[in-house]
Amino acid sequence: MKKGNKISILGAGNVGATIAYTLTMDGMASEIVLVDINQNKAKGEAMDIIQGTALCPPVNIYAGDYSDIKDSDIVIVTLGCARKPGQSRIDLAQGNVNIIKSVMPQAVHYAPDAIYVVVSNPVDIITYTILKTTGLPESHVFGSGTLLDSSRLRESLARTLEISPKNIHAYMFGEHGDSAMVPWSLTSIGGIPLKTYLNSMREKNPDFKGLDLAAIEAEVHTSGAQVISLKGATFYAIALSARRICECILRDTNTVTTLSGMIHGAYGIDDVCLSLPFVLDCHGISGMNAPELTAQEQEKLLASANVLKQTIASLDI
Ligand code: LAC
Repeated sequence: MKKGNKISILGAGNVGATIAYTLTMDGMASEIVLVDINQNKAKGEAMDIIQGTALCPPVNIYAGDYSDIKDSDIVIVTLGCARKPGQSRIDLAQGNVNIIKSVMPQAVHYAPDAIYVVVSNPVDIITYTILKTTGLPESHVFGSGTLLDSSRLRESLARTLEISPKNIHAYMFGEHGDSAMVPWSLTSIGGIPLKTYLNSMREKNPDFKGLDLAAIEAEVHTSGAQVISLKGATFYAIALSARRICECILRDTNTVTTLSGMIHGAYGIDDVCLSLPFVLDCHGISGMNAPELTAQEQEKLLASANVLKQTIASLDI
């Protein structure tokens, strides 16, 4: 019988293993299962983590096969190839869609009631594929989406403004990728709209030059690729994003956060998965918020949705 929270991670590469490590450090689950086509890799990662568990919150972490994910509360999907230097996330689409289509039936067979958190890239396309091919409910399948991009944006603003990222409400909407957009009109610093905040900084300090918002947005677009060009892969920040999602689910936090879910008509966007602010709780995602955007912001969001729609149309899903 299951004794506590159980999280299964499909794929024990850099991202899957780092998620397992991060969840262990936080005591997020009492049972963590790592599943990988390379069983030795999954076994090695599980052993490497479990050897430290005398020194951190208790967890039973082990490598298993699909039947071991039975009764999982959460299944985190990290399967597929990761981006290499010079590749966009969309470049991975058909290859990773094929992997997902071949293994998800087994996962869903053993864990039909789990909440599926999709991390594999291109995350919006993979989330859409899982929804279209498994029949799982939309509340139970969503992607980490632009939670990471929003975190990168908040960190960048925090660094420039010398304000804690915790006090910065800022989001990226749309594709987790090159077409993600910042709804600047919704950005606020300690409860003050960004525009007002920057004006008051100018009044206090005439030397303050303001922020180059386009440059900040561009920096966020390329920041993942920059890490890949420096160290070959990204895995820490995405693991922290997955950890945060698990926390919101297991602690039933009702957190409003940007995640990639199925969109039905908001802003005129339909039948595509992309990131907008959803409410995340123990039942998964619900109650997508569609805050008012400027006409220019709406246009950028629609352009992002179109990138995803065109990619979907070009794929065999
Ligand atoms: C990144 C990967 C997770 O942006 O897409 O780091």
